[in-house]
Amino acid sequence: MTIHIDAKPGDIAETVLLPGDPLRAEWAAEEFLDGPRLVNEVRGMLGYTGTWNGHPVTIHGSGMGMPSLSIYANELIRDYGAKTLVRIGSCGSMQADVKLRDIVIAMTASSMETPSKGMFRELNFAPCADWTLLRAAVEAAEWTGTTTHVGGIYSSNTFYDERPDLNEQMTRHGMLAVEMEAAELYTVAARHGARALAVLTVSDHLQTGEALDSESRETSFGDMVLIALEAALSN
Ligand code: HPA
Repeated sequence: MTIHIDAKPGDIAETVLLPGDPLRAEWAAEEFLDGPRLVNEVRGMLGYTGTWNGHPVTIHGSGMGMPSLSIYANELIRDYGAKTLVRIGSCGSMQADVKLRDIVIAMTASSMETPSKGMFRELNFAPCADWTLLRAAVEAAEWTGTTTHVGGIYSSNTFYDERPDLNEQMTRHGMLAVEMEAAELYTVAARHGARALAVLTVSDHLQTGEALDSESRETSFGDMVLIALEAALSN
């Protein structure tokens, strides 16, 4: 039991999927896991543990933004022994050829600042995905047939960004999409010797202003969960 997770020792699997939204954790657990059990509900941040193809898996909300994700990633790894953490979530496309419903697999996650920034002092740490997870996710994505892009993303601290010039620089430098959690997940995992990856669905487009309706969000979300499970449990 930790400050933010009241699961019992052994209630959290070594493989954890982290959607931002706790209700997405509930939906994914009911949809994809066998025998899902609620293992945490402190502050409404739901976590479920069950099995997928016989492998124990926990699906736990991370909340929105890096400070929230950082709390859960730290406690899941340090206190509950999580070894493989895959963020599943939505992102906003920053490239014309990255379309709504496409999958983005984040090889690196740039940011202005993560909650870990203070400890690095003058070092500009480059958060990157675990290679074995990345490779397995790309293979799984090819198998599902969903259009998939692999590359750098931007983990922002603001959803309502007032810096259009910054988005322009991101686009120029090939960032595929923006979201708000991956850079800190990769950093915390690296610090504690865990594996991490972010598999994202494009829910909106920064250049065109298009956005998925809630029904399409749900169907696209399914492919992402499958890719994350396949990647996490393939090796
Ligand atoms: N900005 C930040 N995070 C996001 C976005 C966005 O446009 N879309 C989905 N997550």
